[in-house]
Amino acid sequence: MDILDGFRIDERVAVVPGGGGAIGSEIAAALAAAGARVTVVGRTEETLERAAAKVRGAGSEALTAVGDMTSEADATRCIAETLDAFGRVDIVVNAIGGGAGKVLFDAQEYPQTEWDWIYELNVRSTLLPTQAAVRAMIDGGRGGRVLNISSVRGQLGINAGYSAYVAAKGAIDSLTRQWATEWASHGITVNAISPTFVDTPQVAMLLDDPDFKQALVSRIPVARVGQTEDLFGAVLLFCSDASAFITGQILTIDGGLTATQ
Ligand SMILES: NC(=O)c1ccc[n+]([C@@H]2O[C@H](COP(=O)([O-])OP(=O)(O)OC[C@H]3O[C@@H](n4cnc5c(N)ncnc54)[C@H](OP(=O)(O)O)[C@@H]3O)[C@@H](O)[C@H]2O)c1
Repeated sequence: MDILDGFRIDERVAVVPGGGGAIGSEIAAALAAAGARVTVVGRTEETLERAAAKVRGAGSEALTAVGDMTSEADATRCIAETLDAFGRVDIVVNAIGGGAGKVLFDAQEYPQTEWDWIYELNVRSTLLPTQAAVRAMIDGGRGGRVLNISSVRGQLGINAGYSAYVAAKGAIDSLTRQWATEWASHGITVNAISPTFVDTPQVAMLLDDPDFKQALVSRIPVARVGQTEDLFGAVLLFCSDASAFITGQILTIDGGLTATQ
């Protein structure tokens, strides 16, 4: 057997909530390049179509599923559409989230409306599609892979008004361990990747500020911010048979940033 076969995911079906986004669309294409058929999920057909084209360009089949992943009915329907199209669900990569830099408040003043918005965007939109996908995995009886996209902020405080985001990503880290514990008996592994800044539109305004970028990069031993390609190795590991004995883990992808803390 070729050792690299363990990283192939041919015949598998992956669902990427947030698959129209900057990170999600690249991950969807990477999963396709490794052999998976991919459903990209989001609220905007146009961005999903662009992501589906990347999946097809990587040599696989794509489905677009339009829905709001804070709605249980939409999450259930998007997984049902995947089952109708492809007959199975093996992998879910949760790529909805963010909002951190948009709502910054001192912790003692953090307003409930913004707190709830960050939680809906990061936690509820991860919870609902995962529940629906895992029900399908359990019914399928073939096991599965869940990969959450957290952030180094799940583990590290920052003196910049990030309370809700830090708490939401901390919740994702805790759910990663809890789901790993509960679903291991079904052959389903659950892991998370936690990047520092990845060069994407969500953080472009911050990274375009040379002072901000210089201060950030000076704290990262590898001396640069992340690119979406920097996530692919871990994504393929956690979504393939190569990680069969790895579950409940949170891998920082941060050029060594957390190693210095
Ligand atoms: N970028 C970074 O530097 C960075 C660093 C660390 C961690 N992360 C994490 O990586 C993940 C992806 O970030 P990104 O930069 O790729 O964000 P992004 O480009 O904004 O992508 C997020 C996608 O989620 C979709 N979405 C949002 N709310 C939704 C909902 N209720 N239902 C369905 N789809 C929804 C959006 O599409 P629609 O609006 O069309 O629905 C969008 O395409 C997030 O969890 C973020 O916290 C990012």
